[in-house]
Amino acid sequence: MKGLILSGGKGTRLYPLTYTRAKQLIPVANKPVLVRVIETIRDAGVNEVGIVIGQTGPEIREAIGDGSRFGVRITYIEQPSPDGLAHAVKISQDFLGDEPFVMFLGDNVIEGGISALIRDFTNHQWNSQIVLKRVPDPRSFGVAVLKSDQSIEYLVEKPQTPPSDLALIGIYMFDSTVFQAVNAIKPSRRGEYEITDAIQWLIDHGSHVHAHVHDGWWIDTGKPIDMIEANCNVLDELTPGIAEDVVIEHSQIDRRVKIERGARVINSIVHGPTIIGEDSLLENCYVGPYSSIYHHVTLANCEVERSIILENCTIRDTDARLHGCLIGRNVMVQRKLEKPRTLTLNLADNSTLWLV
Ligand code: G1P
Repeated sequence: MKGLILSGGKGTRLYPLTYTRAKQLIPVANKPVLVRVIETIRDAGVNEVGIVIGQTGPEIREAIGDGSRFGVRITYIEQPSPDGLAHAVKISQDFLGDEPFVMFLGDNVIEGGISALIRDFTNHQWNSQIVLKRVPDPRSFGVAVLKSDQSIEYLVEKPQTPPSDLALIGIYMFDSTVFQAVNAIKPSRRGEYEITDAIQWLIDHGSHVHAHVHDGWWIDTGKPIDMIEANCNVLDELTPGIAEDVVIEHSQIDRRVKIERGARVINSIVHGPTIIGEDSLLENCYVGPYSSIYHHVTLANCEVERSIILENCTIRDTDARLHGCLIGRNVMVQRKLEKPRTLTLNLADNSTLWLV
């Protein structure tokens, strides 16, 4: 069994963060989503992994390297243009050969890993296995309609009027018959070779495609709100712990908190689940539940909850509590004390700012 991770997308729904960073490298609970995907595949016993890369390829290669740090062997496969998930499979044929493989979208986070799914796939004579999840609004996903015996009646990509609430999660398993399918299909209305169409082709041509309905949480980290939601889910599974050299003075630290090396917490209250990254400083702060503070961040005289704050940020003297924030690298948020007391903003393109 091999692994194939698709990490080519530009992440336009996460602008402005993704102007300067590949979306798969944005951390959730202080670990890049792509690293979580690699570890999930590795933990299911798959060590040979291809990563399909696009424009952000150099950054992904630099962050992940040859994979030895994560206990896998990585091969990079360049996709010259973002022509769809089925196209990514097509260009990976040399790497995949005749072996069955699991394909995982590099921005998906799933509860409980994929070991059981891979075991089921290996133990049956299925040509493909797809994973479905009931969602309230499936219009931005592939959607499946099942028959009463749970076999698939048909699939449709991003329907205006969804025929069911079963969305396709970005995790798929295939044997080599998928190459016939990806070579036979035509581009969709959005001009992409859709994996949903390739799976429909397999069904139409007598292949056995098994549908598994996932019960736990799943998040496609496409929009800022999804990142915050994924962060909450992953933090719920946090193993608490305080590194040895952490300095804590006059502070209250909850039970479900992880504090990494070199951090200092002075005169502050930290409620879990929360993670504080390496060499960060909290002074006169309240950091509330579901916060991920990355490394080298300074928080002083402020309150933060349910937020992701990336490396090297400084947040100081703010009046209102920060809630539901996704803040990129090297950002400074500070109350202006001198006159005139104006709002002075220096925001990147496509930023969002909520004032109170
Ligand atoms: C892709 C697939 C879609 C699937 C989704 C899961 O959509 O085309 O069928 O439901 O991933 O994240 P895209 O991310 O390309 O819009």
